[in-house]
Amino acid sequence: MTGFSIGRRAFCAGLAGTMLARPAWGATDRLVAQKASVQLAPDGYPATPVWSYGGTIPGATIRMRQGDRLQRQLVNELDVPTSVHWHGIRIDNAMDGVAGLTQEAVRPGGTFDYDFTLPDAGTYWYHAHTNSMEQVARGLSGALIVEEADAPDVDRDEVLMLGDWLLDPDTGGFVEPFNHPMMMSHGGRTGNLVGVNGRYDFALTAKRHERLRLRLINSANARIFVLRLQGMRGWTVALDGMPLDGPEEVSDEIVLAPAQRADLIVDITADEGAPAGLLMWMDDDSWEALAEVKVSGQSATTPRPAPTALPPNPRTALPDLSEARSLDMVMEGGAMAGMESAMFEGERLGFRALIEKGQFWALAGQAGRTETPFADLALGEVLRIRLENRTAFPHGMHLHGMHFREVRADGSFGPLRDTILSVPDEPLEIAFTADNPGKWLFHCHMLAHAASGMTTWINVT
Ligand code: C2O
Ligand code: CU
Repeated sequence: MTGFSIGRRAFCAGLAGTMLARPAWGATDRLVAQKASVQLAPDGYPATPVWSYGGTIPGATIRMRQGDRLQRQLVNELDVPTSVHWHGIRIDNAMDGVAGLTQEAVRPGGTFDYDFTLPDAGTYWYHAHTNSMEQVARGLSGALIVEEADAPDVDRDEVLMLGDWLLDPDTGGFVEPFNHPMMMSHGGRTGNLVGVNGRYDFALTAKRHERLRLRLINSANARIFVLRLQGMRGWTVALDGMPLDGPEEVSDEIVLAPAQRADLIVDITADEGAPAGLLMWMDDDSWEALAEVKVSGQSATTPRPAPTALPPNPRTALPDLSEARSLDMVMEGGAMAGMESAMFEGERLGFRALIEKGQFWALAGQAGRTETPFADLALGEVLRIRLENRTAFPHGMHLHGMHFREVRADGSFGPLRDTILSVPDEPLEIAFTADNPGKWLFHCHMLAHAASGMTTWINVT
């Protein structure tokens, strides 16, 4: 282990000036899961004991270029086993970070070498995938940005990790337990403090007519962010990392389910001192500043012309539905809708018995992950899944390893996504080509739901 403390970074520093500005990532880069104390709540409240990557909330943003090889050694300095999932990356299955499916969880004091290439540019993130309901809520997440070879012309590129924390204001600590039945059976664990990049008072400064790229990442456990732009004109250019065919002007609310991302290009239109930024919808139907942009000065006298599309990623072909396999996935359970019974660990159990086992939800009649996958696919096969939400709650359904598209009622396709919001009583269908071999989870990203039944998997061989 000592070899890691004086690694390539120290070496590079010694050659300062002769090296490229971009650090050369090497096998010695570590991602340390560790305890830390961070001031999440406003001044005057106690600091929060968190679990973090490298001592900060969120963990350091990892910035790479498309096609790069990412190497990180996870060092587990926590008292519990953990693992890292690289959300949205079309990754080698062995590097996907799902404890018990793609790797063994890393024990306290242990390490795991993550090593994979980044085929797609875009906005991604990394987070714990061992008991994630608790570990992500305690702070184990960070942004992973993969830059295009030909990046759009903007004045600044900003990562905004939207999150929330459920804190006890008297102690600053997280409200426990993390597996409270009320959270599991309802909307999940939503925080009482909302923020961006670990700050409840996040703010940027910008000049009028400046153009920013905002990479929004919903890293919250369960909160769906509904956002509006203020003092800015914006276009959505990518969703869940994947570029849209063309920029779509933001005219309405932006809805981000847990784990979803949106890349916006925004032009500051507000005058100096006028309010600007991202507003979020509050439960009482008001709008509050989530991320403020303080406008000072002017970068040009006129706005820029509208932005152009991002360069496309490889593998964006529409799935060929003519020979697709079609499966139904009924989503059921939770408070206010209930379910009669479901299979759990090979047995059919009634709702009461399921609850005793901590299972509140089921996908296709099955609570929790099973030995056999929901679907066993041959490489290159196309799968359509019809999701029917018979619960009383929305769910952000996430597929690992591959992006999918919504198949709309009129037969047209939606954009590539890795997470889609399913709302009660509105069936929706997704389709994808199974072009990445391995064992891939499909689960709700309201992490308390995933932990209490809403997790299944797909096998591609
Ligand atoms: Cu971001 Cu299985 O999750
Ligand atoms: Cu859910």
